[in-house]
Amino acid sequence: MDIIFDQYQIREWRQSDVPSLAKYANNCNIALNLRDGFPHPYGEKDAKAFIERTNAIKPSTSFAIATNAEIIGGIGLVLRRDIHRFSAEIGYWLAEPYWDRGIMTKAVRLVCDWAFTELNLTRIFAEPFAANQASIAVLRNCNFVHEGTSRKSAYKDGQFLDQEIYALVR
Ligand SMILES: CC(C)(COP(=O)(O)OP(=O)(O)OC[C@H]1O[C@@H](n2cnc3c(N)ncnc32)[C@H](O)[C@@H]1OP(=O)(O)O)[C@@H](O)C(=O)NCCC(=O)NCCS
Repeated sequence: MDIIFDQYQIREWRQSDVPSLAKYANNCNIALNLRDGFPHPYGEKDAKAFIERTNAIKPSTSFAIATNAEIIGGIGLVLRRDIHRFSAEIGYWLAEPYWDRGIMTKAVRLVCDWAFTELNLTRIFAEPFAANQASIAVLRNCNFVHEGTSRKSAYKDGQFLDQEIYALVR
């Protein structure tokens, strides 16, 4: 995968991404909206382990969003199995200095187009926390449909949270 849009690129992770990944991922405004598997604090050791782990998975479904100089975010799909094997969950985060410029809306559109074609998927879904209005706006911008609310389905930072279910099908 190598998709270029505006001055950004969606590409595979590189070992040389460790410093910028650790710099931008170490942010509680990002971690609080993600699963606990995304560490906080986030150090270079975490970045190195993530890149090694993710690059061992083939086909690659986890990608960096990068400028020419450094990575500024991540976007990936978790493929489901068995009867759900034509579905995948999409997840993403962006470095806070780059928020609200439309970058993730474009990245999600491009990665979904790629995934429907290259991975032969029928359904891509996301489960943002109900309070995550920025992520919900991204999904709506990309024509994901709200299918419902999983009430108190997540336990994050000491609280039970509702998750919204959004999906795009073809
Ligand atoms: C969610 C995230 C990836 C969005 O990236 P982004 O590049 O800023 O997104 P975009 O600029 O494409 O779109 C942001 C949208 O959210 C809206 N928005 C931002 N903050 C908002 C808020 N507090 N309330 C309502 N809408 C908000 C913007 O207006 C924009 O919507 P619009 O295009 O309809 O105007 C980024 O905020 C992030 O990394 N958050 C932390 C990690 C995370 O939440 N990941 C998703 C987990 S499900």
